[in-house]
Amino acid sequence: MAPRPVRIASSLLAADFARLGEEARAVAAAGADWLHLDIMDGHFVPNISFGPVVVKALRQHAAIPFDVHLMISPADPYIPAFAEAGADIISLHPEAGPHLHRSLQSIRALGKQAGVVLNPATPVSAVENVLDLTDLILVMSVNPGFGGQAFLPSQLAKIATLRAMIEASGREIALQVDGGVTAETAPRCIEAGADVLVAGTAVFGKPDYAAAIAALREGAPAKMREGAPAKIREGAPAGRREGAAAEMRGGAPAGSRGSAPAAQRDSAPAGATRGQG
Ligand code: DX5
Ligand code: ZN
Repeated sequence: MAPRPVRIASSLLAADFARLGEEARAVAAAGADWLHLDIMDGHFVPNISFGPVVVKALRQHAAIPFDVHLMISPADPYIPAFAEAGADIISLHPEAGPHLHRSLQSIRALGKQAGVVLNPATPVSAVENVLDLTDLILVMSVNPGFGGQAFLPSQLAKIATLRAMIEASGREIALQVDGGVTAETAPRCIEAGADVLVAGTAVFGKPDYAAAIAALREGAPAKMREGAPAKIREGAPAGRREGAAAEMRGGAPAGSRGSAPAAQRDSAPAGATRGQG
C-alpha cells in the first residue's frame, strides 16, 4: 500500500481574532495544507466562534482548502450558507441532527466534500453505514468547544479501528484528528492511522508557524510529508498563496480566544496551553 501523505489543517480558533485575514494568509504561506474553521453556536458546544460571513471574508485571503467543522445544532439549515461562503469540506457531528445520511447528501449535493465528526464518546458505528457518502472522518481527541485542551490517548484505538474500516471499504476517505495535537502527540496519531492533523495551539501558539507545521510533520515517515492529494485541492480557488510570510504575523503569539476553561485543561502538557487563558 502506498504511504499516505500527512496533511496539516491549521485551526484558526487559536489565531488572533483581530487579524484573522492576516493569520489565514500567514499559515497558508507557512505550509498549512488546509485551513480548519471551527463553527460553534453556544448550544451544541459551550462556546461561540464565528459564522459563514467570516468564512466568506477569509476566502480571499487563502487559496488552500477550507475545512469547516460545524459544532452547531441544528446544522442542516446552515449547510448552504457555508457552501456558498467557500467551504471545500463541511463536517458535522451525528448528534447535531436526526438524519446524518440526509445531511451528508445535502453537503454532497452542493458539490462539497462531506465529513463525519466523532466525539470522544461516540462509537465508530456512528459512521459505518454512511461511508459511501463520507469523504472525511474526524476523530475528536478532546471534547469539542475549546482549543488548548489535553489530547485524549483513549482515541488512538478509535483511529486505528477507523483506519482498518476505511482500508476494508476501499474508499478514499481522509482520517482526521482534532484536539491537543502537538509535535509530541502527532506521531502517535499518524502511527494509529490518521492522515490529517488539526492543530490550533500547536501552530498559532508558536512564534514561527512554518517551523511549527514542519514539527507536526516530523512524526511522519519521509514519504508521508507531502501536501494534499489533488482530490481535495480541486475545490480551492487558484493562486493567492504568495505573499503572507513572517511579517504578516507580527510575531504575536496566539490570542486566548477559544481557549479552554482552566478546569478543562489542567492536565494539558505545557505545549498545549501556551498563551492560553
Ligand atoms: C475544538 C476544535 C479544535 C480546536 C483544536 O473544539 O474542534 O479544532 O481548534 O485546538 P487545539 O489544537 O489547540 O487543541
Ligand atoms: Zn475542529
